[in-house]
Amino acid sequence: MVRETTLSADDFVYPLFVTHGEGVEHPIPSMPGVRHLSVDTLLREGEAAANEGIPAVLLFGIPNAKDATGSEAYADEGIIQKAVRALKRELPQLLVVTDVCLCEYTDHGHCGIVRSDGTVENDSTLDLLARTAVSHAEAGADIVAPSDMMDGRIGAIRAALDTVGLVHTPVMSYAAKYASAFYGPFREAAGSTPAFGDRRSYQMDPANRREALREVRLDVEEGADMIMVKPALPYLDILREVRDTFPELPVAAYNVSGEYAMVKAAAQNGWIEERRSVLELLTGIKRAGADLILTYHAREAARWLREESRV
Ligand code: PBG
Repeated sequence: MVRETTLSADDFVYPLFVTHGEGVEHPIPSMPGVRHLSVDTLLREGEAAANEGIPAVLLFGIPNAKDATGSEAYADEGIIQKAVRALKRELPQLLVVTDVCLCEYTDHGHCGIVRSDGTVENDSTLDLLARTAVSHAEAGADIVAPSDMMDGRIGAIRAALDTVGLVHTPVMSYAAKYASAFYGPFREAAGSTPAFGDRRSYQMDPANRREALREVRLDVEEGADMIMVKPALPYLDILREVRDTFPELPVAAYNVSGEYAMVKAAAQNGWIEERRSVLELLTGIKRAGADLILTYHAREAARWLREESRV
């Protein structure tokens, strides 16, 4: 009766990795329980998530081929485009959010176009990101979520969506995304580790708080409909501050791959109690101000919450 924070399955967005082929359920070693799925197995996982009361999935694509400009990201027959069409046809009740970025599709693994001197070119990347977002939305994506951290991409994507009449497609911005060590397992899963250098020229310094507010403000001004803080656990203070500073917009927090891997590893060793730890950390993220939580724990957590509500 006096509990201040209530966690529920409808707070969750469930990230899934989709790849070409059929019948694929390829485990990702550093993320126990998470797998690469083909469109058919993705449909089954999506249905199971929806049946647990999870309202949305977030899709990451594993393409067949990579090149310098990440062209599979915006190809009509790209893996995300195919997966979105299938999900919206078979499970229209499930919201489909697509991650908009180039790093899974570029052969160098960076989130943008790379110049001959190895630096990432912000402005020429914007066109490709906008093309990717439009292509996802045309395939039926309910929400597009740019995670690249190029400056000006929210405005470019909003304008491109509006130009083709997709005025109702919201943009969920990875607004304050830190250059974090906790993306390690994801990069293994997505094969998106940069071939050279790192992402520190476009992702944020973990030491910066004011800069996060500036990044969020710019995205809000450019037309973001939802804003995200990522990762979640080392940045709960940022989450709280973003929640309080921008009361008008939904705030999302991404409980990232490395955060997931730590819990799984400790639980597998019997060092922590998994169920209690997961529900505690997700409650903490919600208490810090998240309206929605992107988490690989979504399906299990939804089941545990349902079981607890029956007790
Ligand atoms: C793509 C992207 C990343 C994640 C989400 N989108 C990786 C990165 O920036 O290197 C990380 C998700 C996770 O670690 O769970 N830019």
